[in-house]
Amino acid sequence: QTGAFTYDPGFTSTASCESELTFIDGGEGVLLHRGYPIEQLAEQSSFMEVAHLLLRGELPTADEYADFNNTITRHTMVHEQLRGFYQGFRRDAHPMAIMCGVVGALSAFYHDSTDINDPAQRMIASHRLVAKMPTIAAMAYKYSIGQPFVYPDNELSYTGNFLRMTFGVPAEEYEVNPAIEKAMDRIFILHADHEQNASTSTVRLAGSSGANPFACIAAGIACLWGPAHGGANEAALNMLKEIGHPDRIPEYIKRAKDKDDPFRLMGFGHRVYKNYDPRASVMQETVREVFDTLKVKDPVFEVALQLEEMALNDPYFIDKKLFPNVDFYSGIILSAIGFPTSMFTVLFALARTVGWVAQWNEMISDPGQRIGRPRQLYTGPAKRDFVPIDKR
Ligand code: SDX
Repeated sequence: QTGAFTYDPGFTSTASCESELTFIDGGEGVLLHRGYPIEQLAEQSSFMEVAHLLLRGELPTADEYADFNNTITRHTMVHEQLRGFYQGFRRDAHPMAIMCGVVGALSAFYHDSTDINDPAQRMIASHRLVAKMPTIAAMAYKYSIGQPFVYPDNELSYTGNFLRMTFGVPAEEYEVNPAIEKAMDRIFILHADHEQNASTSTVRLAGSSGANPFACIAAGIACLWGPAHGGANEAALNMLKEIGHPDRIPEYIKRAKDKDDPFRLMGFGHRVYKNYDPRASVMQETVREVFDTLKVKDPVFEVALQLEEMALNDPYFIDKKLFPNVDFYSGIILSAIGFPTSMFTVLFALARTVGWVAQWNEMISDPGQRIGRPRQLYTGPAKRDFVPIDKR
């Protein structure tokens, strides 16, 4: 008879936490960053303004913005020795595997100079992570296609710099397309932070032991990679491509409803949103803008629109309150801009680094902070005596 009894560690679980950063009302489809609606931030601000808001607590004045941008810009280069880590990966290594390894390796470069008890050094580590993520991500892409790494250009914006390091080559000038830069910057805003999602909780739990912040962010990257989480944007586009034509949508909707079929509609459903993910609405508008700019006609977008329409009118999805989430449309835009599907979650990690470091800072700065220790319900056997092997 199993002894199902609860183990009482003698303190309340630290699985939940308090935070000033992000508010989500899943029933109403509301997402606020320190009180500002995501729709307004996405339409009217820049990713670096949102980074300032999350990290330093307020939207910056013009002077604060210039200072913050300058601080981030001055940290965009990575140590020359870090380049060597890329050579250790097979050419066909998934860029998320490279991100886990290279970002984890940053902990070796900054371990001795990161006293997490010093607020100033915590902020420097945060700036380094936000600044270097685009460089590391672009290098992961370059390595995977066998092109030379492109150094940061500090004259460009945060997002413009990333696009040039990704798509530029040393042999020729690279002109940042302002419309693409704006769309990419908006996509980064939409992915910046999202309360206590799985990867953010991973960063907090790892950080709660006092671990090196660079290693904690590497742990967050590993968690984000899963197809149930940040890996869904790659899985959603692969699913839309596999469907291929609106006529094949009913077959996939049927599979998604079949309890015996593990297939789920990628980019649909959410642990918290039981209404439309406000980020998905902005993302859908952005697809239209990017397609108009690039004069792109992609049948996959038509499949996505019709799949969304059919699912939103299907009793199963209505009953289970399943709506498109942030990952449903993002892949379509990223693919139109020129990213391979293997880079989609890397871009999610790049943007989410702002939220991860802001959440890590908030946790570490709390004087009452203690090591995380989620509770469990023990369902194993009750206490019993050892049986020697010859008696089993
Ligand atoms: C992200 O937490 C965050 O904030 C995450 C994120 C962020 O910004 O950090 O928002 C980013 O991870 C978005 C989610 C991306 N993942 C996907 O799109 C993968 C496909 N979605 C599912 O795997 C699922 O919806 C989850 C993982 C997102 C949520 O899983 P849950 O919590 O189990 O979903 P649920 O409890 O709301 O499910 C209710 C029912 C279940 O059926 P029953 O057990 O009640 O019979 O709906 C079913 C689920 O099986 N269901 C789906 C479905 N999602 C849930 N059925 C078909 N297709 C789906 N996509």
